[in-house]
Amino acid sequence: MNILGINAYHGNASAAIVCDGQLIAAVEEERFNRVKYAAGFPAAAIRYCLKEAGLTLADVDHVAVPRNPYARMGTKLFYAARMPSFARERIKVLAKFTGIREALAGAFDADPEQLKAVFHRVEHHIAHLASSFYCSPFEESALLSADGLGDFASSMWGAGFGPRMSVHGSIAFPHSLGLYYSAITQYLGFLKFGDEYKVMGLGAYGEPEFLEKFREIVKSNGSGFKLALKYFTHHRTGPEMSWAEADKTPVLGKLFSEELAKHLGPARGPEEPIAQRHKNLACSLQARLEEVYLGMLRHLARETQMKSVCLAGGVAFNCVANGKILGETPFENVYVHPAAGDAGLAVGAALYIWHQVFGKPRSFVMEHAYWGPGFSVDETRKAIEAAKLSEAGYAVTQLEEEKLLERTARIIGEGKILGWFQGRAEWGPRALGNRSIVADPRRAEMKEILNKRIKHREIFRPFAPSILAEASGEWFEKAHPSPFMTMAYAVKPDKRDKIPAPTHVDGTGRLQTVTKTANPRYWKLIKEVDRQTGVPVVLNTSFNDNEPIVCKPQEAIDCFLRTQMDALVLGHFLITKS
Ligand SMILES: [Fe+2]
Repeated sequence: MNILGINAYHGNASAAIVCDGQLIAAVEEERFNRVKYAAGFPAAAIRYCLKEAGLTLADVDHVAVPRNPYARMGTKLFYAARMPSFARERIKVLAKFTGIREALAGAFDADPEQLKAVFHRVEHHIAHLASSFYCSPFEESALLSADGLGDFASSMWGAGFGPRMSVHGSIAFPHSLGLYYSAITQYLGFLKFGDEYKVMGLGAYGEPEFLEKFREIVKSNGSGFKLALKYFTHHRTGPEMSWAEADKTPVLGKLFSEELAKHLGPARGPEEPIAQRHKNLACSLQARLEEVYLGMLRHLARETQMKSVCLAGGVAFNCVANGKILGETPFENVYVHPAAGDAGLAVGAALYIWHQVFGKPRSFVMEHAYWGPGFSVDETRKAIEAAKLSEAGYAVTQLEEEKLLERTARIIGEGKILGWFQGRAEWGPRALGNRSIVADPRRAEMKEILNKRIKHREIFRPFAPSILAEASGEWFEKAHPSPFMTMAYAVKPDKRDKIPAPTHVDGTGRLQTVTKTANPRYWKLIKEVDRQTGVPVVLNTSFNDNEPIVCKPQEAIDCFLRTQMDALVLGHFLITKS
């Protein structure tokens, strides 16, 4: 049975294909159309997924769409009556959704009437919960999804047993932890869609001076929370998000009200310098998020009496909060889906159909995130030749693995910046050693060098460490796996000066634990770095420069040349300045 998951007309448009319960491929549309967080219809992502699975559109038995426009109809109608612009937007979205069959057929020049696939709707947060639980190694687990808004809810929780999951509760619009974080992110002058993680990084430089004030903005409420709505606008104007267009990054309308400035002081303009007050506000924002999020998790642990928890939704990317789950809740195991944001809905919806709708037993665990496009040696060689690298003064050498790793580790140890492109592209927003820029973690100045030369991003944002999984307990305060860079743990005090570049100002690192089974070549590279330098860690940042992560070899070469990295490894090819 072939199930195609499609997240369309929503941020992070994506597709995934599940064949007889096994995930074969999953990818975001942004990797193809090169528009960050692209919404619209993910035609290229679908074409890739089917090609990877060796299928045609006619082979697809079921299509799972992670959206149910009929969910919470009462609440929707209530708000639609009060907000005509919101009602108009809903109608537009509904029209798009009823046309998914046509859009899918159109992407393949097929007749919609000829599609044999059965279409299923899976509610947004149910798809989030499914994305995490059905990919996790847990036979039974508590489940939590928390994000901005999807199908008019912001959070949902429940429990999973084997192939079944049940929902225990949810929080409906307008109360939302994700929108709370987005609103304060805007108030702090970060206006772009997806800027929340910048503010999370900034928070480490501050003190929770405004925590009491934030407790008034988000009030705890039994198993959940409520927003003090006078500080927000979305319940009056509707959540103004532009989702539908494929060639545009989504835009979020203004979420905070003038009351917020009365409560917290003036908002920061995007060009204004960042003062200590802004850092303290970011810190307080984060502290309140953690109180509420960890409170919800403690409640869920009590209610389910389970030892494991599966997380998804945009809030589950908050690695600082996730890093505290083991210490501050009864949970002993945590699994976060690598595409915890809305891209992951494509996988969740497809697996939900397989398990919950058809009752099929569990047979899949997502142990790695390499579900995107890969390229053959020939394709890679052709891209190198087309770029005329030799004529441009670069040496191109094809090396056996052992030699390649030895040379590459030496380049890293010399303080050079390396582009590292291997195998299939990562699923989710983190580069995990297949589309990564890798550097020496021992050099404190590396952060500034990377920012100046390659990444052109805010200096307060931390870089992340990739560490041999077996060494993580020796270097970090916790040894629980973090294969998808979704946890921040404290670096042991005696190790902080050994890896200053990926250690954040508060002493934590958003680590990726690398196992030999999940990514053998990346593991061997770090092992070789360890052999040469005595440190089983590399600094790992995504292979891009203010664009979606590179997908094809050509894009890696372009980024390498544009940003003047020192060396590039594409599969077995090493490219250096000659
Ligand atoms: Fe979501």
